[in-house]
Amino acid sequence: MGNVEVIIADLNSKLENVTDLNRLNEIKAEFIGKKGCITELSKKMGTLTPEQKKVFGKELNEMKTGATELIEAKRKEIEENILNEKLSKEDIDISLPSTKIPVGAPSIVEKMVEEIEEIYMSMGYDVVDGPEIELDKYNFELLNLPKGHPARDAQDTFYIEGEEVLLRSQTSPVQVRVMQEHDGKEPVRIICPGKTYRRDNDDATHSHQFIQVEGLLVDKNISLSDLKGTFDVMAKKIFGKDVESRFRPSYYPFTEPSVEMDISCFACKGKGCPICKQTGWITIGGAGMVHPQVLRNGHFDPEVWSGFAFGFGTERLAMLKYNINDLRTLYTTDLRESVVFDRREV
Ligand code: DAH
Repeated sequence: MGNVEVIIADLNSKLENVTDLNRLNEIKAEFIGKKGCITELSKKMGTLTPEQKKVFGKELNEMKTGATELIEAKRKEIEENILNEKLSKEDIDISLPSTKIPVGAPSIVEKMVEEIEEIYMSMGYDVVDGPEIELDKYNFELLNLPKGHPARDAQDTFYIEGEEVLLRSQTSPVQVRVMQEHDGKEPVRIICPGKTYRRDNDDATHSHQFIQVEGLLVDKNISLSDLKGTFDVMAKKIFGKDVESRFRPSYYPFTEPSVEMDISCFACKGKGCPICKQTGWITIGGAGMVHPQVLRNGHFDPEVWSGFAFGFGTERLAMLKYNINDLRTLYTTDLRESVVFDRREV
């Protein structure tokens, strides 16, 4: 047996029963460490003739690579055994890759609200909150809807206490609240996104709870054309710059004159399609010039101040923008919703 075989056989027999890494490292030092036997042997080189050096050098290399391979193979084996033993003892191995967890996406309604907030903030509006549990006084009376007013019928809501405390049926009550805070002294420029409630049965286009955005601007010399320009900016930012806006006469007790705000159909460009019910136009919300009595209720003198107000439903905007045909999709927490509807940015 030559030198190589002897050393390798010795190493093999020493490795045979090794089960831990400390012992393995000791053996490694014994053979190929600084004072290991293979390293010691290499010191003999100096005493040899060039011919002998050639042969011996080759042997030394074989020894070194052979020994290293054996030691590293053993190391792998020991590490695998340690992991397997650990796995068999543990129920959960946090070092393994996780099972696939579906990734969510932002709520579409939330996204829509944020988009609207961005648009109005860029025009200098403040975003304000109002109470969801509201007094009849603010939800109706101070908005020119006294008890028994026929326009209340469309906004039947949930009552908390008797007839005076209710879940707000619209975000319009923040108009009077905010005006009273400003107390007729300084201009008002706010939007108020928030939950509203109505006694509606839930279906593809109705929900007992939904999110409206109210807007109010009160200043001096404000006219309907300011409202038109403002709405036009919003329409184009949400639905694309080709979209046109128009007003149709309407009626709300708290505005005079009142309008419905329409946009030209972004899908068919006004030619007529199922989305715009073949009319070429889509109604987005209601608006108008703040009624003088409502200004007075908010402590603003209608001889000095004028303003406009508007309101729309966020779900409707989201359904149009993301091409959703059932309102309930937005609220049923079906995870498919987060992948099916692309969050189209126009
Ligand atoms: N509050 C109205 C509704 O729920 C929407 C609305 C219309 C708000 C006209 C306004 C407005 O501020 O001026 O139907």
